[in-house]
Amino acid sequence: TFSKTNLAEEILRLKKEKNAIILAHYYQEPAIQEIADFVGDSLGLSQQAASTDADIIVFAGVHFMAETAKIINPKKRVLLPDLNASCSLAESCPPDLFREFIDKHPGHTVITYVNCSAEIKAMSDIVCTSSNAEKVVASVPLGTPIIFAPDKNLGAYIMHKTGREMLLWDGVCIVHEAFAIDKILKLHQKYPQAQFIAHPESNPEILKIASYIGSTTGMINHVKTDSGKEFIVATEAGILYKMQQEVPEKVLIPAPAKEDNTCACSECAFMKMNTMEKLYLCLKNETPEIHVSDEIREKAIIPIERMLNLS
Ligand code: 13P
Ligand code: SF4
Repeated sequence: TFSKTNLAEEILRLKKEKNAIILAHYYQEPAIQEIADFVGDSLGLSQQAASTDADIIVFAGVHFMAETAKIINPKKRVLLPDLNASCSLAESCPPDLFREFIDKHPGHTVITYVNCSAEIKAMSDIVCTSSNAEKVVASVPLGTPIIFAPDKNLGAYIMHKTGREMLLWDGVCIVHEAFAIDKILKLHQKYPQAQFIAHPESNPEILKIASYIGSTTGMINHVKTDSGKEFIVATEAGILYKMQQEVPEKVLIPAPAKEDNTCACSECAFMKMNTMEKLYLCLKNETPEIHVSDEIREKAIIPIERMLNLS
């Protein structure tokens, strides 16, 4: 066992020795964000995965993110510190039920939010993330019916933004679903100058009162460029680490959740399954490794590449 500092040093040493890169999502714990080569939103992370020349990609995020990196890089070794790091959106959309849904609605263009399994991507026409969903939907010719899965909140928001009707899959993110409108309004009374900003995975009632809606990178850019000095932030609380570093002079307040969580804010238990210890062991032992069958990969790469080309 190592002390925290030694653990970080060992990870850096192994990373160099093995020509590995660590990609981390903003929802990871601060120590992991500190040691990562790149910290970003889902789109930024897949773009980094597409451009790296490292031999090993260690994904400090959740399973669908590492799987996407593997689909983009079949020859590279892609590691995930804990294979159980899932996502409620990905889990809401089992391949057999989704196949039935598509078969029931022939002629639809299938757009899937990147938060889904490789099997689901293999059934899709084009993938999107929260930062390019509007663009992706707008790229479908008018008059062509669309299936959008698995996030119904993001889907409803994009329908509102684009004016396009879409058939929505009934999935939600358990973290963004849990924001409490009454508590947020109360908090706003305490901080009347604060702007309320939200991730589009949040409920429609939450999005209705938001003055800015965007991906995690979008939210960080917004607090950086906006003249506002106080922000109530509705997304996973891990984002506050990087966000606060970017705007040390501004006041950032995590939006409260419905249930009293262990922290006063929202955390994704899947994202938080990754720890520095697991990251170290995974880099040292080169396991757990992500595998995707050739059959699924050959189909899933097509909608992912379409998205990357559009972004
Ligand atoms: P983005 O980082 O793309 O905004 O996605 C948020 C999220 O919930 C990832 O799981
Ligand atoms: Fe999935 Fe929500 Fe966790 Fe992101 S925050 S990984 S969407 S459960």
